[in-house]
Amino acid sequence: MKVAIGSDHAGFKLKEKLKAFLTQKGFEVLDKGCFSEESCDYPDYGEAVALEVVNNNCDFGCVICGTGIGISIAANKIPGIRAALCTSKEMAQLAKAHNNANIIAIGARINLQDSPEEILEAFINSKFEGGRHERRINKITNIEERYKC
Ligand code: RB5
Repeated sequence: MKVAIGSDHAGFKLKEKLKAFLTQKGFEVLDKGCFSEESCDYPDYGEAVALEVVNNNCDFGCVICGTGIGISIAANKIPGIRAALCTSKEMAQLAKAHNNANIIAIGARINLQDSPEEILEAFINSKFEGGRHERRINKITNIEERYKC
């Protein structure tokens, strides 16, 4: 399995930690930056990770910024992306099971209910349940179609 990972400067250290965590779990990790703690702009990295996911070059994505909010908003601008900001294992599990999220967003500077590694692992181990949730995902796709620029 291949994972695209990206962060801004606020998420850089956590990105490095999660990269090591994923590699140790046997994932191939594609690092889309940033590559230092020098100030940079989260939309650039949210977009870069999202493109790897929608183009099917990666199975899923992981994005990190200070809160996880800005980078998830940016990633969600790419049609086909469902980026979910998760602060707990429960949210991560449900983001996949109910929302079929293809990117997980984590905040590096906020209080999380579980460790970032536990949150990421819960996302990885969860499966989309389909059924009624499929219908809802299709409605999200329809919204994208209707508001296409
Ligand atoms: C950067 O200072 C910070 O604004 C960014 O990492 C993020 O929290 C935005 O949503």
